[in-house]
Amino acid sequence: MDRPDGVVDFTPSREHFPFESRWFESSVGPVHYIDEGTGTPLLLMHGNPDWSFLYRKIVAGLRDRFRCVALDYPGFGLSAHPTGYGYTPAEHAAVTRELVEHLDLRGMVVMGQDWGGPIGLDVASRLPDRVAGLVMGNTWFWPAEARMMRSFSWMMSTAFMQRLILDRNLFVNLLMKRTLRVKLSEEEFRHYRDVVPTPGHRKGIADFPVQIRASGPWLAELERRVKAELVGKPTLLVFGRKDPALGTKGVIGVWRRTFPDASYVELPNAGHYIQEDAPDEIVAAISDVFGS
Ligand code: BEZ
Repeated sequence: MDRPDGVVDFTPSREHFPFESRWFESSVGPVHYIDEGTGTPLLLMHGNPDWSFLYRKIVAGLRDRFRCVALDYPGFGLSAHPTGYGYTPAEHAAVTRELVEHLDLRGMVVMGQDWGGPIGLDVASRLPDRVAGLVMGNTWFWPAEARMMRSFSWMMSTAFMQRLILDRNLFVNLLMKRTLRVKLSEEEFRHYRDVVPTPGHRKGIADFPVQIRASGPWLAELERRVKAELVGKPTLLVFGRKDPALGTKGVIGVWRRTFPDASYVELPNAGHYIQEDAPDEIVAAISDVFGS
């Protein structure tokens, strides 16, 4: 199933992912990324259970004006699944930082959704001199206290649910499929399902919900650093309102109070996976705020 270097044997379709796959030799193994277009660098950070494929429509819409860099964290997409790697957001952020420094990205705009928010903000707040702006949607950057998030984390951490995520690919086959508001073709959806063909490929996916609670101290430190290092950077908030976890008035209120000067674009019909549900609106909003 895997190539000798630990990379899954999966070839994205040229029709849906018409980009050059590149690999970076990170300190934990090969990391897959795409680097398309020229202009202001846009670092595109995915969440669970996806990979750079999630950003394909946004990359296609922006690569004539932006340099679009999207990676897959270790254990996701086409990156290797290293043994001895903990799959924590802190580790994903450290690997992303290595890539940013390797590519020497400067003046970059960091976009994050779901776990891509905290991970992208960790990178941005540790390298603030490289950051020209932020695009954040359906994500958070503080210790999760809302009952919805904590009970989701608790339920997904039970041995029973962990087995279903690992053995049956439940996160992709049930949660993601039901949460998407657009209907993907079978050909598109298989890019999420078949890129994690065995339980051994699903460890990162299974661990993210556990980390909602387990990474509380890391998120507390992140919250402090975001407020110290990133408030004042040009920021665009793009929030899908049909997301009961991260598209609520409460979550959006925290963002708007923390970033009072941020541009805010509401995506009334988008759910959690805004890149799939509302790519054209996001492309237009990024072009408006960051296009020159
Ligand atoms: C997750 O860890 O999979 C997750 C995080 C935030 C919202 C929904 C899901």
